[in-house]
Amino acid sequence: MGVPITSLVALAIAGLAFYKVVIYPYFISPLAKIPNAHWSVPISPGWMLWRRFRMQNNRTIQAAHERLGPIVRLGPSEISVNCVDGGIKSVYTGGFEKHEWYPRVFGSLGTVSMFTMIGTKPHSARKRMLSNIYSKSTLQTSPHLRVVSNAVIYDRLLPILQDGASSEQSIDVHDLNQGLTMDFVSCYLFGLQNGTNHLQDHAFRKHWLHMYLCRKPFEFYHQETPQLIGWMKCMRLRLIPKYCDTANDMLDAWALDLCGKAAQSLSSTDPSIEPIVYKQLKQSLDKQAAKEGGPKPDPAKQQNDIACEMYDQLTAGFETSAVGLTYLLWEFSKNPELQSKLHEELMTLDPPIRFPRCADLPPAKAVDMLPLLEAIVTETLRLHAPIPGIQPRAYSLHRNPEVFPEPETWRPSRWLKEENSIVDLEEQKRWFWAFGSGGRMCVGSNLALQETKLVVAAIYSNFRTTIVDDDGIEAIDAYTVGPRAEKLILKFHPL
Ligand code: HEM
Repeated sequence: MGVPITSLVALAIAGLAFYKVVIYPYFISPLAKIPNAHWSVPISPGWMLWRRFRMQNNRTIQAAHERLGPIVRLGPSEISVNCVDGGIKSVYTGGFEKHEWYPRVFGSLGTVSMFTMIGTKPHSARKRMLSNIYSKSTLQTSPHLRVVSNAVIYDRLLPILQDGASSEQSIDVHDLNQGLTMDFVSCYLFGLQNGTNHLQDHAFRKHWLHMYLCRKPFEFYHQETPQLIGWMKCMRLRLIPKYCDTANDMLDAWALDLCGKAAQSLSSTDPSIEPIVYKQLKQSLDKQAAKEGGPKPDPAKQQNDIACEMYDQLTAGFETSAVGLTYLLWEFSKNPELQSKLHEELMTLDPPIRFPRCADLPPAKAVDMLPLLEAIVTETLRLHAPIPGIQPRAYSLHRNPEVFPEPETWRPSRWLKEENSIVDLEEQKRWFWAFGSGGRMCVGSNLALQETKLVVAAIYSNFRTTIVDDDGIEAIDAYTVGPRAEKLILKFHPL
């Protein structure tokens, strides 16, 4: 008796399935030659998913690179690349589209922004509208940013620090930084008059930060398991708690409100009122619509598009810069000698940044050219990159010991011309990825650097800092990081 036909068919199906699920991914796929971070990765994304669920993405990838080299396989269709030439440079300049999880995790107001746009074409069109307003030369000479900087530093920040210093009260600088950076970015976007005052409005800052941060533990599901969210919804079960929806609604309303106020000030050319970034985007969108020759854009839809873009820049801008500042203050507070050296350098500014105020701030260009300050900021962004992963990859790139010897040590001198060869410095700069690179590089990098340098200059021109409580300062492992305990308590000592 022959073998029944059904058994033959079953055998063929099993063989085919075995080929597809095991033989192909293990031995034939173009990724088969890449070392596996774990034996299971060619056939299942489970191993990496579990690590992401446990918030171990960046460290897991770093450990895999240390063991297996610059290119490792993390899943059936996922690899990690940790070299510049023949690696990440091609990825960032190759015109690849962004991963579709960006709009899922960071979307707002039901639409997309420059940061969350997947396609390269709409993204480049949006970026062209805004890059000029964030260029270094525009920012350094902007009368708007100058008004904002004087107000935030002299009227808001330094009085708070001075109060703390004279009453010998310690200050949670991480909390403060998140207000400070929000004020900087929002006042540049919307004008000083219509931006936030989170620094002085402590109660609203706390409320806002709570709304913003309460959604973070659920980012994993949007990023990695969007289908699961959908299935659970169909079964009327909640994976993401209702308070996240409430927070999203409140944040959307907040962004729309800021834009509404800015819209009222469009005709002003007063640098403390004119909403310079908002206006630039609005005019560019109007121009684009006119060029395309279609009907006039629906005002409500346009306001939503603008609010989504502004919201993204506010959140991309405040959290990252605040985290960078917190780690800078932490490293610096452990290093009194370096504080004295920087103070000396800062006293060369003309005029110096002294509190109480006796003059305007020195030119932004002069602050930018201070070599020790530059080295301190760069080294902090290397070792404590605020967006180290999952996509920007800075965590592992910044830990290559061949480029950055003793990579876990915070050593600003590795960026100083006097102490390193030009070749080494150039190589370090090529591997510096805190702001990404290529077409999707951070549009706000110059704003972040200008504001960070100014804040550090203002603090160490007037104070010395010491640590009171840095428990939980180690960074969480996430897309945007920050101290696990969400605090850093320092004491400010007047100079
Ligand atoms: C120290 C501070 C900052 C760091 C470390 C940082 C880092 C980054 C990184 C790594 C990216 C690329 C993200 C990716 O590819 O997934 C990015 C993009 C972006 N950042 Fe920043 N950022 C900072 C400050 C700012 C500020 C102040 C703004 C305010 C405008 C801003 C706005 C943006 C926007 C809009 C994008 C998307 C750009 C695009 O897709 O073309 N960032 N940032």
